Amino acid sequence: MPTERKSAQRAQEPIRTSHPLTGKFIVFDGVDGCGKSTQLDEFEKYLSAAGVAYRRFREPGGTIIGEHIRNILLTQRGEGMHIRTEMLLYMASRAQLVYQEIRPALAAGMAVLTDRYTSSTLAYQGAAGGVPISDILATATAATENLWPDLTIILDVTIAEARQRTSKKGRFQQIGLFEDRIEQRAAQFHERVREGFLAQCTQFPDTYRRVGATGRKEVVSQRIMTVLKTYFNIKK
Ligand code: TYD
Repeated sequence: MPTERKSAQRAQEPIRTSHPLTGKFIVFDGVDGCGKSTQLDEFEKYLSAAGVAYRRFREPGGTIIGEHIRNILLTQRGEGMHIRTEMLLYMASRAQLVYQEIRPALAAGMAVLTDRYTSSTLAYQGAAGGVPISDILATATAATENLWPDLTIILDVTIAEARQRTSKKGRFQQIGLFEDRIEQRAAQFHERVREGFLAQCTQFPDTYRRVGATGRKEVVSQRIMTVLKTYFNIKK
């Protein structure tokens, strides 16, 4: 067993190379506050119990270069960065992650989970930011050399609910600075992001699934597991 695989393997031995999720690339995405991270934690528990070797990454980031880019993106937000610069930086972080981590992991037969991917760029910089979808798809093709997920799960919640969930973390407040007009603009932006994710589910029905993410964590993770089991034809 290659060392990298051994260290990434968080499951009980033996590794099940025959599992339908072996070598599959799965993305969890959705608006800020949709619960992706919590649901990825739950899915990791399933993979561990099933003995599937996997790696999990977040975007932007996941590599040293990517974390530098993440820093630029998340600290310079709204400070004069052109939307196309933003789009290209997200893609640059992605290119590094794909070549340094994702492709090698998939080649070694691991399942790869990511928290966001090109679907986020299509929603944030595309649907909400105004960059044409065709430009983003062409850039993604170049950045990843055509690496698309086997499945993208869009966790869908209303912006009102997402806002409630993130209020603890203060993210919407940070964007809105407690000022009504600005907060209103932030809410409209997030509505367009949500519409952008839903539009992708319609545009790419073969590789996208929308999962309603309203309700208790256990209920949502049950819904996700049902979708995954059907999609990948997992028996149990
Ligand atoms: P992060 O703190 O990681 O948020 P989350 O936990 O919701 O993923 O910040 C990532 C932010 O970057 C998030 O607001 C979405 C945004 N983003 C884009 O705008 N475009 C992209 O391509 C990606 C990957 C993320």
